[in-house]
Amino acid sequence: MTPVLEAVGLRKTYGAFVAVANATFTVRPGEIVGFLGPNGAGKTTTIRMITGLLRPDSGQVLVDGHDLRREPMAAKAVMGYVPDTPNLYGKLKAVEYLRFMAQLYRVPRTVAEPRMRSLLDLFELTDAAGNTLDSFSHGMQQKAAIAGALIHEPKIIFMDEPTVGLDPRSARLIKDLMIRQRDNGQSVFFSTHILEIAQHMCDRVIIINKGEVVADASVSELRQVKGDQSLEDIFLELTGDGEIDDMVAELSDGA
Ligand SMILES: Nc1ncnc2c1ncn2[C@@H]1O[C@H](COP(=O)(O)OP(=O)(O)OP(=O)(O)O)[C@@H](O)[C@H]1O
Ligand SMILES: [Mg+2]
Repeated sequence: MTPVLEAVGLRKTYGAFVAVANATFTVRPGEIVGFLGPNGAGKTTTIRMITGLLRPDSGQVLVDGHDLRREPMAAKAVMGYVPDTPNLYGKLKAVEYLRFMAQLYRVPRTVAEPRMRSLLDLFELTDAAGNTLDSFSHGMQQKAAIAGALIHEPKIIFMDEPTVGLDPRSARLIKDLMIRQRDNGQSVFFSTHILEIAQHMCDRVIIINKGEVVADASVSELRQVKGDQSLEDIFLELTGDGEIDDMVAELSDGA
């Protein structure tokens, strides 16, 4: 089966600083992939490269077989993207925003309208659909952004920390949505710091540390390799912070 995403040897530097070194990974159709790593590890940088917002120094991105650099329209037509902070057109009403996104992705109006209504329903935004986005709370904006990213039924949706700032019910909606995507044979690639979500939701996790991919496996595979530890233990070990307990002990000794 053709992967829906292939990232090959992605590299991004800022001056002498290597933000992402040589990131290579794939996402298959119908797969939920969690992208984990400490603050500053290179997650957002990588997501911005695979969505075409940031040009890598080197490397290649294929989305559903389309080279993002040579066929950007074809590649972007099959992806959705939700950035880490929703950055919406505040003066638009939610319903106008969704119509705008539908037009951008050339979804015919007869298809877009019922889809829009079902997304607004799913995200419990129907009552607020006539209000401008700048009147929305953070969580409502986040949900509107996700609805907008789904209006063209992308084969893969990229979400950068989608559950940050969401209440438990809204976070649950996002999780249900990911499962819905997978059930439809569509893929989800999302970054998160919430290991519990990664552990429960993901078919596979990719861990990045200091710009290098240090793990790419299912949670159960990782556990087999690492001796049945929790994902948290594995994460802390792979990202070099396994000594946190020692450091905390040392702090208390010194107190
Ligand atoms: N425009 C930029 N100029 C200079 N350095 C940058 C720039 N963008 C990112 N970086 C650096 O690249 C590294 C990776 O940043 P990135 O935002 O990708 O991390 P992240 O894994 O998303 O972290 P977080 O979990 O905090 O969101 C960081 O050290 C950051 O300071
Ligand atoms: Mg980030």
